[in-house]
Amino acid sequence: MNALQISAPWWKPDSGRSLLIRGGRPLVGTYPISGAKNAALPLMVSALLTPHLVTLHNLPANLDVAVLSALLQRLGANLSWSNGTSGLSLTICADRVHAENIDRELVARMRASVLLLGAVLARCGEASLPLPGGDAIGLRGIDFHIAGLRAMGAVVELEGGMIHARAPQGLKGAEIALPLPSVGATENLLLASVLAQGRSVIRNAAREPEITDLATCLIAMGARIDGLDTHVLTIDGGATLAGAVHTVMPDRIETGTLACAAAITGGALTLANARLDLLGAAGPLLQSAGVEMMVVDNGVSARRAASGTVGVDLSTQPYPGVATDLQAPIMALMTTALGASAITETIFEQRFRHVDELRRMGANIIVRGRTALVRGVPALGAASVTGSDVRAAAALVIAALGAHGETVLDGLDHLDRGYDGMTAKLAACGAEVRRV
Ligand code: UD1
Repeated sequence: MNALQISAPWWKPDSGRSLLIRGGRPLVGTYPISGAKNAALPLMVSALLTPHLVTLHNLPANLDVAVLSALLQRLGANLSWSNGTSGLSLTICADRVHAENIDRELVARMRASVLLLGAVLARCGEASLPLPGGDAIGLRGIDFHIAGLRAMGAVVELEGGMIHARAPQGLKGAEIALPLPSVGATENLLLASVLAQGRSVIRNAAREPEITDLATCLIAMGARIDGLDTHVLTIDGGATLAGAVHTVMPDRIETGTLACAAAITGGALTLANARLDLLGAAGPLLQSAGVEMMVVDNGVSARRAASGTVGVDLSTQPYPGVATDLQAPIMALMTTALGASAITETIFEQRFRHVDELRRMGANIIVRGRTALVRGVPALGAASVTGSDVRAAAALVIAALGAHGETVLDGLDHLDRGYDGMTAKLAACGAEVRRV
Protein backbone atom coordinates (compact mmCIF):
# COMPACT_ATOMS: atom_id res chain seq x y z
CA MET A 1 0.00 0.00 0.00
CA ASN A 2 2.94 2.29 0.54
CA ALA A 3 3.51 2.74 -3.16
CA LEU A 4 -0.12 3.69 -3.64
CA GLN A 5 0.04 6.32 -0.94
CA ILE A 6 3.01 7.95 -2.62
CA SER A 7 1.36 8.18 -6.03
CA ALA A 8 -2.15 9.10 -4.89
CA PRO A 9 -1.98 11.18 -1.74
CA TRP A 10 -5.80 11.29 -1.50
CA TRP A 11 -6.04 7.50 -1.30
CA LYS A 12 -6.55 6.49 2.30
CA PRO A 13 -7.32 2.80 2.45
CA ASP A 14 -10.05 2.41 5.04
CA SER A 15 -8.97 0.29 7.96
CA GLY A 16 -12.34 -1.46 7.91
CA ARG A 17 -12.49 -4.82 6.17
CA SER A 18 -16.28 -5.24 6.39
CA LEU A 19 -19.18 -2.95 5.68
CA LEU A 20 -22.11 -3.13 8.09
CA ILE A 21 -25.39 -2.03 6.54
CA ARG A 22 -28.62 -1.83 8.52
CA GLY A 23 -31.29 -1.85 5.85
CA GLY A 24 -34.75 -0.40 5.63
CA ARG A 25 -33.94 3.30 5.74
CA PRO A 26 -34.97 5.30 2.68
CA LEU A 27 -32.08 7.03 0.92
CA VAL A 28 -32.91 10.72 0.67
CA GLY A 29 -30.79 13.65 -0.44
CA THR A 30 -28.07 14.42 -2.93
CA TYR A 31 -25.60 11.74 -3.97
CA PRO A 32 -22.70 13.16 -6.00
CA ILE A 33 -21.90 11.00 -9.02
CA SER A 34 -18.15 10.83 -9.66
CA GLY A 35 -16.21 10.78 -12.87
CA ALA A 36 -16.45 7.44 -14.67
CA LYS A 37 -13.85 4.88 -13.60
CA ASN A 38 -13.93 3.21 -16.99
CA ALA A 39 -13.28 6.51 -18.74
CA ALA A 40 -10.68 7.71 -16.24
CA LEU A 41 -8.38 4.69 -16.65
CA PRO A 42 -7.80 4.89 -20.44
CA LEU A 43 -7.65 8.69 -20.20
CA MET A 44 -4.82 8.43 -17.68
CA VAL A 45 -3.00 6.02 -20.00
CA SER A 46 -3.40 8.44 -22.94
CA ALA A 47 -1.00 10.82 -21.19
CA LEU A 48 1.80 8.34 -21.98
CA LEU A 49 1.46 9.21 -25.67
CA THR A 50 2.82 12.72 -25.30
CA PRO A 51 5.74 14.41 -23.54
CA HIS A 52 3.42 17.36 -22.83
CA LEU A 53 1.13 17.91 -19.85
CA VAL A 54 -2.25 16.20 -19.74
CA THR A 55 -4.64 17.44 -17.06
CA LEU A 56 -7.70 15.41 -16.16
CA HIS A 57 -10.51 16.85 -14.02
CA ASN A 58 -13.32 15.01 -12.24
CA LEU A 59 -11.35 11.81 -11.62
CA PRO A 60 -12.99 9.35 -9.25
CA ALA A 61 -11.01 8.78 -6.05
CA ASN A 62 -11.09 5.00 -6.16
CA LEU A 63 -8.62 2.15 -5.81
CA ASP A 64 -8.25 1.46 -9.55
CA VAL A 65 -7.25 5.08 -10.18
CA ALA A 66 -4.75 4.84 -7.30
CA VAL A 67 -3.26 1.62 -8.67
CA LEU A 68 -2.97 3.03 -12.19
CA SER A 69 -1.34 6.19 -10.91
CA ALA A 70 1.26 4.05 -9.14
CA LEU A 71 1.86 2.19 -12.41
CA LEU A 72 2.27 5.45 -14.34
CA GLN A 73 4.80 6.66 -11.79
CA ARG A 74 6.82 3.47 -12.13
CA LEU A 75 6.89 4.11 -15.87
CA GLY A 76 8.50 7.49 -15.22
CA ALA A 77 5.51 9.86 -15.30
CA ASN A 78 5.31 12.73 -12.83
CA LEU A 79 1.89 13.16 -11.27
CA SER A 80 0.51 16.18 -9.56
CA TRP A 81 -2.88 16.09 -7.82
CA SER A 82 -5.28 18.79 -6.73
CA ASN A 83 -8.80 18.90 -5.39
CA GLY A 84 -11.09 21.79 -6.27
CA THR A 85 -14.38 22.76 -7.88
CA SER A 86 -13.72 20.36 -10.78
CA GLY A 87 -13.33 17.46 -8.35
CA LEU A 88 -10.11 15.49 -8.14
CA SER A 89 -7.65 16.68 -10.80
CA LEU A 90 -4.44 15.13 -12.01
CA THR A 91 -1.72 16.54 -14.22
CA ILE A 92 0.49 13.93 -15.81
CA CYS A 93 3.88 14.71 -17.28
CA ALA A 94 5.28 11.76 -19.22
CA ASP A 95 8.25 13.48 -20.84
CA ARG A 96 10.14 10.24 -20.32
CA VAL A 97 8.67 6.74 -20.29
CA HIS A 98 10.70 3.78 -18.98
CA ALA A 99 9.04 0.83 -20.68
CA GLU A 100 11.06 -1.67 -18.65
CA ASN A 101 9.62 -0.56 -15.32
CA ILE A 102 6.12 -1.99 -15.45
CA ASP A 103 5.27 -3.31 -12.00
CA ARG A 104 4.07 -6.94 -12.04
CA GLU A 105 2.31 -6.86 -8.71
CA LEU A 106 0.32 -3.74 -9.55
CA VAL A 107 -0.64 -5.03 -13.02
CA ALA A 108 -1.93 -8.22 -11.43
CA ARG A 109 -4.36 -6.14 -9.37
CA MET A 110 -6.18 -4.58 -12.28
CA ARG A 111 -7.25 -5.92 -15.66
CA ALA A 112 -7.41 -2.44 -17.20
CA SER A 113 -3.61 -2.27 -16.92
CA VAL A 114 -3.55 -4.14 -20.25
CA LEU A 115 -4.27 -0.70 -21.75
CA LEU A 116 -0.66 0.18 -21.01
CA LEU A 117 0.41 -2.30 -23.69
CA GLY A 118 -0.73 -0.28 -26.72
CA ALA A 119 0.35 3.10 -25.37
CA VAL A 120 3.80 2.06 -24.09
CA LEU A 121 4.51 0.01 -27.22
CA ALA A 122 3.56 2.94 -29.46
CA ARG A 123 5.60 5.42 -27.44
CA CYS A 124 8.71 3.31 -26.71
CA GLY A 125 8.75 0.63 -29.41
CA GLU A 126 8.54 -2.11 -26.77
CA ALA A 127 6.44 -3.15 -23.81
CA SER A 128 6.43 -6.15 -21.46
CA LEU A 129 3.47 -6.76 -19.23
CA PRO A 130 2.36 -9.60 -17.00
CA LEU A 131 -0.97 -11.05 -18.10
CA PRO A 132 -3.35 -8.72 -16.30
CA GLY A 133 -5.54 -9.58 -13.32
CA GLY A 134 -8.78 -8.02 -12.18
CA ASP A 135 -12.32 -9.26 -11.70
CA ALA A 136 -13.08 -12.97 -11.56
CA ILE A 137 -15.82 -12.83 -14.20
CA GLY A 138 -14.87 -15.27 -16.92
CA LEU A 139 -12.13 -15.71 -19.47
CA ARG A 140 -11.70 -12.06 -20.39
CA GLY A 141 -9.13 -12.93 -23.01
CA ILE A 142 -6.82 -10.36 -24.52
CA ASP A 143 -6.48 -12.12 -27.87
CA PHE A 144 -8.17 -9.23 -29.75
CA HIS A 145 -5.71 -6.76 -28.27
CA ILE A 146 -2.76 -8.89 -29.33
CA ALA A 147 -4.08 -9.67 -32.81
CA GLY A 148 -4.69 -5.95 -33.42
CA LEU A 149 -1.20 -4.96 -32.33
CA ARG A 150 0.27 -7.71 -34.52
CA ALA A 151 -1.71 -6.36 -37.48
CA MET A 152 0.01 -3.03 -36.77
CA GLY A 153 3.39 -4.70 -37.18
CA ALA A 154 4.22 -5.54 -33.57
CA VAL A 155 5.95 -8.80 -32.66
CA VAL A 156 4.08 -10.10 -29.63
CA GLU A 157 5.16 -13.16 -27.65
CA LEU A 158 3.55 -14.77 -24.62
CA GLU A 159 6.00 -16.46 -22.29
CA GLY A 160 5.84 -17.45 -18.63
CA GLY A 161 2.78 -15.35 -17.86
CA MET A 162 4.28 -12.30 -19.60
CA ILE A 163 3.38 -10.49 -22.81
CA HIS A 164 6.42 -9.17 -24.68
CA ALA A 165 5.67 -6.78 -27.52
CA ARG A 166 8.10 -4.91 -29.72
CA ALA A 167 7.96 -2.74 -32.80
CA PRO A 168 11.47 -1.37 -33.22
CA GLN A 169 10.57 0.42 -36.46
CA GLY A 170 7.36 1.79 -34.95
CA LEU A 171 3.77 0.69 -35.47
CA LYS A 172 2.02 0.97 -38.82
CA GLY A 173 -1.62 1.76 -39.43
CA ALA A 174 -3.76 -1.29 -40.18
CA GLU A 175 -7.27 -2.48 -40.96
CA ILE A 176 -8.53 -4.33 -37.91
CA ALA A 177 -11.90 -6.07 -37.55
CA LEU A 178 -12.68 -7.03 -33.97
CA PRO A 179 -14.52 -10.35 -33.55
CA LEU A 180 -16.60 -8.70 -30.78
CA PRO A 181 -16.92 -5.01 -29.92
CA SER A 182 -14.50 -5.29 -26.99
CA VAL A 183 -14.22 -2.09 -24.99
CA GLY A 184 -10.65 -2.69 -23.83
CA ALA A 185 -9.39 -3.85 -27.24
CA THR A 186 -10.93 -0.80 -28.94
CA GLU A 187 -9.25 1.50 -26.42
CA ASN A 188 -5.89 -0.26 -26.61
CA LEU A 189 -5.82 -0.17 -30.40
CA LEU A 190 -7.06 3.41 -30.49
CA LEU A 191 -4.22 4.46 -28.18
CA ALA A 192 -1.64 2.59 -30.29
CA SER A 193 -2.96 3.73 -33.67
CA VAL A 194 -2.76 7.42 -32.77
CA LEU A 195 1.05 7.18 -32.80
CA ALA A 196 1.27 4.57 -35.60
CA GLN A 197 2.31 5.75 -39.06
CA GLY A 198 -0.57 5.92 -41.52
CA ARG A 199 -4.26 5.12 -41.39
CA SER A 200 -5.88 2.57 -39.10
CA VAL A 201 -9.47 1.46 -39.33
CA ILE A 202 -11.00 -0.38 -36.37
CA ARG A 203 -14.17 -2.17 -37.47
CA ASN A 204 -16.75 -3.60 -35.08
CA ALA A 205 -15.27 -1.19 -32.55
CA ALA A 206 -17.05 -0.78 -29.23
CA ARG A 207 -18.92 2.50 -28.94
CA GLU A 208 -19.37 2.83 -25.21
CA PRO A 209 -19.46 6.50 -24.13
CA GLU A 210 -16.13 5.99 -22.34
CA ILE A 211 -14.50 5.36 -25.72
CA THR A 212 -15.89 8.60 -27.07
CA ASP A 213 -14.56 10.35 -23.96
CA LEU A 214 -11.09 8.91 -24.65
CA ALA A 215 -11.24 9.82 -28.35
CA THR A 216 -12.35 13.36 -27.49
CA CYS A 217 -9.31 13.84 -25.28
CA LEU A 218 -7.00 12.34 -27.92
CA ILE A 219 -8.44 14.73 -30.53
CA ALA A 220 -7.80 17.63 -28.14
CA MET A 221 -4.17 16.42 -28.05
CA GLY A 222 -4.02 16.63 -31.85
CA ALA A 223 -4.99 13.10 -32.89
CA ARG A 224 -7.07 12.65 -36.05
CA ILE A 225 -9.95 10.28 -35.32
CA ASP A 226 -13.21 9.89 -37.23
CA GLY A 227 -16.29 7.84 -36.44
CA LEU A 228 -16.85 8.75 -32.80
CA ASP A 229 -19.93 7.00 -31.37
CA THR A 230 -19.95 4.50 -34.25
CA HIS A 231 -18.65 0.97 -34.79
CA VAL A 232 -15.96 2.11 -37.26
CA LEU A 233 -13.12 4.27 -36.01
CA THR A 234 -10.69 5.72 -38.55
CA ILE A 235 -7.43 7.03 -37.20
CA ASP A 236 -4.84 8.93 -39.20
CA GLY A 237 -1.85 8.29 -37.02
CA GLY A 238 1.57 9.75 -36.64
CA ALA A 239 0.67 13.29 -35.53
CA THR A 240 2.87 14.81 -32.86
CA LEU A 241 0.62 15.08 -29.86
CA ALA A 242 0.36 18.11 -27.63
CA GLY A 243 -1.00 18.19 -24.10
CA ALA A 244 -4.67 18.62 -23.23
CA VAL A 245 -7.09 19.48 -20.46
CA HIS A 246 -10.09 17.18 -20.21
CA THR A 247 -12.98 16.61 -17.80
CA VAL A 248 -13.90 12.95 -17.25
CA MET A 249 -17.53 12.10 -18.08
CA PRO A 250 -19.88 11.20 -15.21
CA ASP A 251 -20.08 7.55 -14.22
CA ARG A 252 -23.16 5.99 -15.84
CA ILE A 253 -22.72 2.76 -13.86
CA GLU A 254 -22.63 4.57 -10.52
CA THR A 255 -25.71 6.49 -11.71
CA GLY A 256 -27.70 3.33 -12.51
CA THR A 257 -26.52 1.65 -9.32
CA LEU A 258 -27.66 4.49 -7.10
CA ALA A 259 -30.99 4.75 -8.94
CA CYS A 260 -31.54 1.09 -7.98
CA ALA A 261 -30.54 1.88 -4.39
CA ALA A 262 -33.00 4.79 -4.20
CA ALA A 263 -35.80 2.60 -5.53
CA ILE A 264 -35.21 -0.46 -3.33
CA THR A 265 -35.25 1.71 -0.20
CA GLY A 266 -38.32 3.71 -1.29
CA GLY A 267 -36.22 6.86 -1.10
CA ALA A 268 -35.59 9.77 -3.44
CA LEU A 269 -32.11 10.77 -4.54
CA THR A 270 -30.72 13.57 -6.63
CA LEU A 271 -27.79 12.05 -8.49
CA ALA A 272 -25.75 15.22 -8.88
CA ASN A 273 -23.67 15.57 -12.08
CA ALA A 274 -25.31 12.45 -13.58
CA ARG A 275 -26.48 12.28 -17.21
CA LEU A 276 -29.56 10.21 -17.99
CA ASP A 277 -28.72 9.94 -21.72
CA LEU A 278 -25.55 7.99 -20.89
CA LEU A 279 -27.58 5.08 -19.49
CA GLY A 280 -28.67 3.93 -22.95
CA ALA A 281 -31.35 1.24 -22.85
CA ALA A 282 -30.90 0.88 -19.08
CA GLY A 283 -32.76 4.19 -18.61
CA PRO A 284 -36.11 3.12 -20.13
CA LEU A 285 -35.66 -0.36 -18.65
CA LEU A 286 -35.34 1.00 -15.14
CA GLN A 287 -38.33 3.30 -15.72
CA SER A 288 -40.45 0.29 -16.72
CA ALA A 289 -39.23 -1.52 -13.60
CA GLY A 290 -40.66 1.28 -11.45
CA VAL A 291 -37.59 3.47 -11.02
CA GLU A 292 -38.67 7.01 -11.83
CA MET A 293 -35.80 9.05 -13.22
CA MET A 294 -35.91 12.62 -14.43
CA VAL A 295 -33.38 15.12 -15.67
CA VAL A 296 -33.07 17.93 -13.11
CA ASP A 297 -30.92 21.07 -12.99
CA ASN A 298 -27.85 19.50 -11.43
CA GLY A 299 -28.22 15.91 -12.64
CA VAL A 300 -30.87 13.20 -12.43
CA SER A 301 -33.51 12.49 -9.79
CA ALA A 302 -34.33 8.87 -8.97
CA ARG A 303 -37.13 7.43 -6.84
CA ARG A 304 -39.39 4.42 -6.61
CA ALA A 305 -42.65 4.86 -8.54
CA ALA A 306 -45.78 5.09 -6.41
CA SER A 307 -46.93 1.81 -7.95
CA GLY A 308 -43.74 0.07 -6.72
CA THR A 309 -41.09 -1.93 -8.56
CA VAL A 310 -42.06 -4.65 -11.02
CA GLY A 311 -40.09 -7.47 -12.61
CA VAL A 312 -38.70 -6.80 -16.10
CA ASP A 313 -36.71 -9.02 -18.45
CA LEU A 314 -33.34 -7.93 -19.76
CA SER A 315 -30.37 -9.10 -21.72
CA THR A 316 -27.01 -7.36 -21.37
CA GLN A 317 -25.67 -5.94 -24.64
CA PRO A 318 -22.91 -3.66 -25.87
CA TYR A 319 -23.79 0.04 -25.67
CA PRO A 320 -26.44 1.37 -26.11
CA GLY A 321 -27.87 -1.90 -24.75
CA VAL A 322 -28.17 -2.55 -21.03
CA ALA A 323 -24.62 -2.53 -19.62
CA THR A 324 -23.30 -5.77 -18.18
CA ASP A 325 -21.96 -3.64 -15.32
CA LEU A 326 -25.58 -2.89 -14.34
CA GLN A 327 -26.73 -6.52 -14.49
CA ALA A 328 -25.91 -7.31 -10.86
CA PRO A 329 -27.30 -4.04 -9.44
CA ILE A 330 -30.55 -4.45 -11.40
CA MET A 331 -30.82 -8.06 -10.26
CA ALA A 332 -30.57 -6.88 -6.66
CA LEU A 333 -33.48 -4.51 -7.31
CA MET A 334 -35.51 -7.27 -8.95
CA THR A 335 -35.25 -9.53 -5.87
CA THR A 336 -38.07 -7.59 -4.19
CA ALA A 337 -39.98 -6.41 -7.27
CA LEU A 338 -43.49 -7.60 -8.01
CA GLY A 339 -43.46 -10.60 -10.36
CA ALA A 340 -40.54 -12.22 -12.12
CA SER A 341 -37.53 -11.08 -14.10
CA ALA A 342 -35.44 -13.07 -16.59
CA ILE A 343 -31.91 -11.64 -16.68
CA THR A 344 -29.59 -12.88 -19.42
CA GLU A 345 -25.86 -12.15 -19.35
CA THR A 346 -24.42 -12.16 -22.86
CA ILE A 347 -21.10 -10.32 -22.42
CA PHE A 348 -19.25 -12.33 -19.77
CA GLU A 349 -19.32 -16.06 -19.12
CA GLN A 350 -19.31 -16.04 -15.34
CA ARG A 351 -21.05 -13.01 -14.10
CA PHE A 352 -23.58 -14.52 -11.71
CA ARG A 353 -21.39 -14.83 -8.63
CA HIS A 354 -23.69 -12.44 -6.79
CA VAL A 355 -26.60 -14.89 -7.18
CA ASP A 356 -25.58 -17.20 -4.32
CA GLU A 357 -24.99 -14.21 -2.07
CA LEU A 358 -28.39 -12.70 -2.89
CA ARG A 359 -29.95 -16.10 -2.15
CA ARG A 360 -28.36 -16.05 1.29
CA MET A 361 -30.35 -12.89 1.87
CA GLY A 362 -33.56 -14.67 0.92
CA ALA A 363 -33.76 -13.93 -2.82
CA ASN A 364 -35.56 -16.44 -5.03
CA ILE A 365 -33.25 -16.90 -8.05
CA ILE A 366 -32.57 -19.87 -10.28
CA VAL A 367 -29.89 -19.90 -12.97
CA ARG A 368 -30.24 -21.78 -16.25
CA GLY A 369 -27.15 -21.29 -18.38
CA ARG A 370 -26.73 -17.60 -19.03
CA THR A 371 -30.16 -16.63 -17.68
CA ALA A 372 -31.13 -15.97 -14.09
CA LEU A 373 -34.83 -16.13 -13.25
CA VAL A 374 -35.61 -13.87 -10.32
CA ARG A 375 -38.97 -14.17 -8.59
CA GLY A 376 -39.63 -11.18 -6.38
CA VAL A 377 -40.03 -11.83 -2.65
CA PRO A 378 -41.70 -9.40 -0.21
CA ALA A 379 -38.42 -8.57 1.55
CA LEU A 380 -34.80 -9.67 1.90
CA GLY A 381 -33.17 -10.46 5.23
CA ALA A 382 -29.69 -9.64 6.46
CA ALA A 383 -26.79 -12.09 6.04
CA SER A 384 -23.00 -12.23 5.88
CA VAL A 385 -22.09 -11.87 2.21
CA THR A 386 -19.01 -11.31 0.06
CA GLY A 387 -18.64 -9.26 -3.10
CA SER A 388 -16.59 -11.19 -5.67
CA ASP A 389 -16.24 -8.42 -8.22
CA VAL A 390 -16.77 -4.70 -8.29
CA ARG A 391 -20.38 -4.77 -9.55
CA ALA A 392 -21.37 -7.82 -7.48
CA ALA A 393 -20.25 -5.91 -4.39
CA ALA A 394 -22.38 -2.92 -5.42
CA ALA A 395 -25.39 -5.22 -5.95
CA LEU A 396 -24.99 -6.57 -2.43
CA VAL A 397 -24.92 -3.03 -1.06
CA ILE A 398 -28.24 -2.35 -2.83
CA ALA A 399 -29.76 -5.56 -1.50
CA ALA A 400 -28.55 -4.80 2.03
CA LEU A 401 -29.93 -1.26 1.96
CA GLY A 402 -33.38 -2.72 1.22
CA ALA A 403 -33.16 -5.70 3.59
CA HIS A 404 -34.39 -6.14 7.16
CA GLY A 405 -31.58 -6.29 9.71
CA GLU A 406 -27.83 -5.79 9.55
CA THR A 407 -25.87 -7.21 6.62
CA VAL A 408 -22.12 -7.76 6.86
CA LEU A 409 -20.43 -7.26 3.48
CA ASP A 410 -16.87 -8.45 2.84
CA GLY A 411 -14.78 -8.12 -0.31
CA LEU A 412 -14.52 -4.36 0.10
CA ASP A 413 -11.44 -4.11 -2.09
CA HIS A 414 -13.79 -4.70 -4.99
CA LEU A 415 -16.14 -1.94 -3.88
CA ASP A 416 -13.21 0.42 -3.38
CA ARG A 417 -11.90 -0.35 -6.86
CA GLY A 418 -14.98 1.05 -8.52
CA TYR A 419 -16.76 3.49 -6.23
CA ASP A 420 -15.47 6.77 -4.91
CA GLY A 421 -16.39 7.20 -1.22
CA MET A 422 -19.53 5.08 -1.33
CA THR A 423 -19.82 4.60 2.43
CA ALA A 424 -19.67 8.31 3.21
CA LYS A 425 -21.96 9.27 0.34
CA LEU A 426 -24.58 6.72 1.44
CA ALA A 427 -24.35 7.81 5.07
CA ALA A 428 -24.92 11.43 3.99
CA CYS A 429 -28.19 10.27 2.37
CA GLY A 430 -29.42 8.62 5.55
CA ALA A 431 -28.11 5.06 5.21
CA GLU A 432 -26.96 3.28 8.36
CA VAL A 433 -23.57 2.10 7.12
CA ARG A 434 -20.20 1.76 8.76
CA ARG A 435 -16.95 0.02 8.11
CA VAL A 436 -15.53 -2.16 10.86
C1 UD1 B 1 -14.75 -3.13 -19.96
C2 UD1 B 1 -15.07 -2.48 -18.65
C3 UD1 B 1 -15.96 -3.40 -17.82
C4 UD1 B 1 -17.19 -3.79 -18.62
C5 UD1 B 1 -16.81 -4.34 -19.99
C6 UD1 B 1 -18.00 -4.60 -20.88
C7 UD1 B 1 -13.16 -1.08 -18.19
C8 UD1 B 1 -11.96 -0.83 -17.36
N1 UD1 B 1 -13.83 -2.21 -17.93
O1 UD1 B 1 -14.03 -4.33 -19.68
O2 UD1 B 1 -16.36 -2.70 -16.63
O3 UD1 B 1 -17.90 -4.80 -17.90
O4 UD1 B 1 -15.94 -3.41 -20.67
O5 UD1 B 1 -18.73 -3.43 -21.06
O6 UD1 B 1 -13.55 -0.28 -19.02
N2 UD1 B 1 -12.85 -10.56 -25.06
C9 UD1 B 1 -12.12 -11.55 -25.68
N3 UD1 B 1 -10.88 -11.23 -26.15
C10 UD1 B 1 -10.35 -9.99 -26.02
C11 UD1 B 1 -11.12 -8.98 -25.39
C12 UD1 B 1 -12.37 -9.30 -24.92
O7 UD1 B 1 -12.56 -12.69 -25.80
O8 UD1 B 1 -9.21 -9.76 -26.47
C13 UD1 B 1 -14.19 -10.88 -24.53
C14 UD1 B 1 -14.22 -10.87 -23.02
O9 UD1 B 1 -13.81 -12.10 -22.48
C15 UD1 B 1 -15.67 -10.56 -22.74
C16 UD1 B 1 -16.07 -9.67 -23.93
O10 UD1 B 1 -15.10 -9.87 -24.92
O11 UD1 B 1 -16.42 -11.75 -22.76
C17 UD1 B 1 -16.18 -8.20 -23.61
O12 UD1 B 1 -14.99 -7.77 -22.97
P1 UD1 B 1 -14.45 -6.27 -23.09
O13 UD1 B 1 -15.47 -5.41 -23.77
O14 UD1 B 1 -13.09 -6.32 -23.65
O15 UD1 B 1 -14.39 -5.85 -21.56
P2 UD1 B 1 -13.22 -5.06 -20.84
O16 UD1 B 1 -12.65 -4.04 -21.76
O17 UD1 B 1 -12.31 -6.01 -20.17
